[in-house]
Amino acid sequence: MSRISTGISSEHLSAIASEFGTPTYVYDAALMRERCRALDAACGDYPHAMHYAIKANATLAIVRLMRECGARADANSGGEIEVALRAGYTAQDIVFTGVGKSAAELRRAVALGVKAINAESPGEVERIAAIARELGTVARVAIRINPDVDAGSHPHISTGLKTNKFGMSIEAARAMARDIGRHPSLRIVGLHVHIGSQITKTAPLTRAAETLSDLAVSLVAEGIPLEHLDIGGGLGIGYQVGQTVVSPQEYAEAILPAIRRTGLTLVLEPGRWIVGPAGILLTTVVDLKAQPPDPQTGEARQFVIADAGMTDLLRPALYGAWHDISVVSPRPGPDVLCDIVGPVCETTDTLGSARRLPPVEVGDLLVIRDAGAYGSVMASNYNRRPTAAEVLVENGAWRVIRRRQTVEDLLQWDV
Ligand SMILES: Cc1ncc(COP(=O)(O)O)c(C=O)c1O
Repeated sequence: MSRISTGISSEHLSAIASEFGTPTYVYDAALMRERCRALDAACGDYPHAMHYAIKANATLAIVRLMRECGARADANSGGEIEVALRAGYTAQDIVFTGVGKSAAELRRAVALGVKAINAESPGEVERIAAIARELGTVARVAIRINPDVDAGSHPHISTGLKTNKFGMSIEAARAMARDIGRHPSLRIVGLHVHIGSQITKTAPLTRAAETLSDLAVSLVAEGIPLEHLDIGGGLGIGYQVGQTVVSPQEYAEAILPAIRRTGLTLVLEPGRWIVGPAGILLTTVVDLKAQPPDPQTGEARQFVIADAGMTDLLRPALYGAWHDISVVSPRPGPDVLCDIVGPVCETTDTLGSARRLPPVEVGDLLVIRDAGAYGSVMASNYNRRPTAAEVLVENGAWRVIRRRQTVEDLLQWDV
């Protein structure tokens, strides 16, 4: 049986498409488990806690699977906190991150007593203190620093430069750490950094870890006790065949020497690396259109119009992201130069430009790979398009973990 990047066979994909229709996200549970274990194992016996970044894929069954694998949770909104609780996490398993947390979100996190609220600004720390005082509790706070490190990834997913909206400068964080000691309703438990996503080089990760550790060492020397250092997420995956990425071992080697100096527990917030390669988006060709021949080569070119578009997988339209696209059951014949596009009324609704596919016909199934992270979570109802179904495959069997929306589902919110 031919295999499609995940452990799922093309025969299974055809069966899933007939049963549930398309577009459909299909996830490989075994691969997610394996990747979760591999990342955890890379940290060896150094004290660490892996908090799965729910933002990467927030479908309840996936978050539950992460919990079964021993990961804890990194929530980026009030909604993600509720997902984590529904998935069986306790408040002590949750770190709460995110720029611009609302008063209601902070109140919920403080009332629950989450493991750490990763605070982004002095104003936010004041708001947390006021809520904790009012609730008669002590909120556990970690300070997110902005190390002014270029993650080297796409500018839209880089978060560690001082011109980015995230975190506090080292000096502001130091002042904040001292100030927190004066608030009886706050306890500083850690420092946090996240310099971006889809990072494919170790140097920026090492620099971020060193900056975090240097600050921790000096704060502890001042008598400010800390429990953990949270290095965030960001480990990249190979979207293109042969793309150089950082392995879990290289990742651990890049960050652990700096963290080890502090003796503090390492917190990691991986998302993409665990779930990205374990998901694919299955879509059907709904139309074909000839284009004018390529002006340079004179080669024939066509639009392959799929039933999945930017409302299902936004990454190509949002960041020009590249996903491998292939045909589930290739037909014989020479490859054709194609632009694979979606049905949405926007020219940016392109899933892949200038790709070569074997001859395709209307009704053929396509697979868009590495769509397990930042795929279904970014879906929208633009053009009143219902979101795709999601299916989890485990031990050769599958089940729907999120049913396809219907137009009725969409209309029920209109009053
Ligand atoms: C604070 C924080 N932690 C963790 C992550 C997860 O990152 P990734 O999916 O690249 O591992 C993100 C995503 O950007 C984030 O903003």
